[in-house]
Amino acid sequence: MKQIQMRKSSTTSLISTKKIIQMNNVWASYDSKNFVLEGINLSIDRGTNYAIIGQSGSGKSTLLKLMNGMMIPSKGTIKIDYVSPDMNNKKFKNMMHTIGYIPQSLGLVKNISVLENTLLGALPRLSKIQSLFKKFPEHEIKEAKRILNLVGLSGKEDRKIYMLSGGEKRRVAIARALMQKPTILLADEIVSELDNVTAHEIMDLITDAQKRTNLTAIMVHHDMKLALEYANRVAVIKKGQKILELGVEGETIVDFQTGDVTTEEIMEMYDANSKK
Ligand SMILES: Nc1ncnc2c1ncn2[C@@H]1O[C@H](COP(=O)(O)OP(=O)(O)O)[C@@H](O)[C@H]1O
Ligand SMILES: [Mg+2]
Repeated sequence: MKQIQMRKSSTTSLISTKKIIQMNNVWASYDSKNFVLEGINLSIDRGTNYAIIGQSGSGKSTLLKLMNGMMIPSKGTIKIDYVSPDMNNKKFKNMMHTIGYIPQSLGLVKNISVLENTLLGALPRLSKIQSLFKKFPEHEIKEAKRILNLVGLSGKEDRKIYMLSGGEKRRVAIARALMQKPTILLADEIVSELDNVTAHEIMDLITDAQKRTNLTAIMVHHDMKLALEYANRVAVIKKGQKILELGVEGETIVDFQTGDVTTEEIMEMYDANSKK
């Protein structure tokens, strides 16, 4: 955690910086003509479980790509732990490996094993030679096995990815991301295609890891109900704009953004989602 020591007369106080992601009036475009995100403001505290929901094409994946430097905004500013996410920014390049990104397609290598896929998360820690020959030190192999046990895949270390179920593949993608020892986890619709029970198992797994390591998890979901069940905050994106920022307080759903969306409209979105 970033901490600043301040000296004030003879006493020393500690200021701990809380925000890990800040977006200020962010606009994004793929063709520099049409904007797919318009004026997004986001402020996420360290250790938060943050969800992003919205219809297909609303800009959720684009939002994640902006957070890991795969895309740069057309307008506005983004800070990830006080650094601009841009591959050309050396400071960001150095911290990039601490962002675990699980794309919607999972990005696993199909014809290698569960263990080998998991070890890929440790690649940034290897020397050039080790990395070239994918020669992983014994302690990294041990750590990969520990994480695979944690995600419920012990005994399946040697299976090839194509032999796994949808739920198991997601567990490998999570294991690989955890192997990075991330401070931020970005997951794009990781449970959308799963049955309800498996979806909850996977979400429990991530929530567990998140709490244990003070990880900031930012997850794109399809289902508002599931998002509210796990997340501290839920951003609702509609046609490139953030229209709501919801959270649950006791039995009540609270809109922290207080835009012009009525309670009835929020309930409609909630019901429409839960019927799916
Ligand atoms: N690589 C791309 N090139 C051009 N347009 C894109 C690209 N990726 C996404 N888009 C467009 O940007 C908009 C937002 O897409 P996306 O962020 O993927 O939405 P979501 O994840 O909410 O479904 C959509 O209109 C989509 O067609
Ligand atoms: Mg998407």
